[in-house]
Amino acid sequence: MQCKVKVTEPLKSEADMLAVCAWEDGKSGLILSPEAEILDRTLRGMLSEVARTEDFEAKPKSTLLIHSHGLLPVKRILLVGMGAPKALTVFTFESVLAVVGRVGKQVAARTVDIALPKEIFDRLGKEEAGEAAAIGMHLGTYVFNRHKSEASQKKEKHIGLVQFLVRPACLSDVARGAARGETVARGVYFARDLVNEPPSLTTPSHLGKVAEKIAASDRSLTALVLGKKDLVSLGMQALLGIARGSSEEPQFIVLSYKGTAKKTVALVGKGITFDTGGLSLKPSEHMETMKMDMAGAAAILGLFSVLPILRPKVNVVGLISATENMPGARAIKPGDIVRAMNGKTIEILNTDAEGRVVLADALSYTFEKVKPDVAIDLATLTGACMVALGEEISGLFSTDQKLAALLMATAEKTGEKLWQLPLAEDYAELLKSTVADVRNISGKRYGGAITAALFLKEFVPEGSSWAHLDIAGPAFAESDSPLNPKGGTGVGVRLLARYLLSQ
Ligand code: BES
Ligand code: MN
Ligand code: ZN
Repeated sequence: MQCKVKVTEPLKSEADMLAVCAWEDGKSGLILSPEAEILDRTLRGMLSEVARTEDFEAKPKSTLLIHSHGLLPVKRILLVGMGAPKALTVFTFESVLAVVGRVGKQVAARTVDIALPKEIFDRLGKEEAGEAAAIGMHLGTYVFNRHKSEASQKKEKHIGLVQFLVRPACLSDVARGAARGETVARGVYFARDLVNEPPSLTTPSHLGKVAEKIAASDRSLTALVLGKKDLVSLGMQALLGIARGSSEEPQFIVLSYKGTAKKTVALVGKGITFDTGGLSLKPSEHMETMKMDMAGAAAILGLFSVLPILRPKVNVVGLISATENMPGARAIKPGDIVRAMNGKTIEILNTDAEGRVVLADALSYTFEKVKPDVAIDLATLTGACMVALGEEISGLFSTDQKLAALLMATAEKTGEKLWQLPLAEDYAELLKSTVADVRNISGKRYGGAITAALFLKEFVPEGSSWAHLDIAGPAFAESDSPLNPKGGTGVGVRLLARYLLSQ
């Protein structure tokens, strides 16, 4: 699918489907956008009449499809509800566009035009709206079917061209936004694909190869992929310890993007390519989706795949601890003690709390070797965070309130959702071990997302600007929603792309 921005009268649209907007209104129930109004007149009031008969209220994401019966060059008209203008958010707008994309596919439209009314630009900004429009269309129409039969792949409908119809005054800003949105969406697709691929394919060494391939694509990028021997000499016993139960070699991946600024942002990803829980084995229901335990790594790889096009000014370093967590004969055991790269020892009491252990080495490496100005980690870290915030919101923890506030504000401007949770120092007690410097699980059942974050903080030097994103909930959609078809969501890519561009 390709997105373009064009100055065309909706009346002249020749697309297979033309979408026009309606706003919800407390008093009269519904207001047609000027573009919908013009169509309605040419259709002799058919649009408003059907809307009335069908009790169409213009609630966000509601749709009404009518045929033009030869009264217009366009075949089908889709009236889409936007909700109240004042309530419009990037998330709602993206979701509406995702729905338009899905309806377009359902009716096998090869070309879709969407008339964007002025209120959207007033509310969200021209460039932002263009970006959100492209992102919504792409994310809603994503499919992962490369392992299905050719016959079934052929049946899948594709929209070839989407055109956003705007007034001349908006053209260049919306076009710039839409182009960026398409790029960001490509990064999201990249991350989704990696999460959706079967775990025996996306092994740690596969992630290493993917990183090398990305780096080879542009001069601004370099990749360093470290294997077992390198990890031994670096003293990354934590990552090596978790990897012991697997026959796959662990990898530590360092991707670097050279910008023009002095500042460096490190992005650290959990890359557990499959989490069985290790010897503290997960029950099968909980293991079913555990190919997604590398979603943090996938987001970083997806982002790097488009960094040369986005070209942020800051330098970016992506660091990924990649391994399987398996219960092999040599697997790490509850009671074992490992030493992380920063010298701290960890008592492993539950091998299913493996993410924080592999991140202990990744964070140690980050602060010792990269010495970034800011470090942000992304990890499908705890079921507890899902219990707290559900499937749509990521947990945010930070040692730097300014960074936390900026990430929250950035999330607001993308369709991603964050909520800050406290790094409650008092709970650090719960991680005290009698035999090592820290234990890898809390001594209590409660507050698991917080104690996991506090564990990570043990590997972050005092005074560093660090944020931890627990993406366990949003990383994988267990059911379909407009923006997120079932499966990997690519969460983190949009947020981080926007964050990096703001630096
Ligand atoms: N990868 C899981 C967390 C997870 C759970 C992500 C569900 C996505 C969906 C992590 O490695 C894990 O197993 N965490 C344990 C920690 C516990 C043993 C302290 C958990 O949350 O149950
Ligand atoms: Mn686990
Ligand atoms: Zn895990």
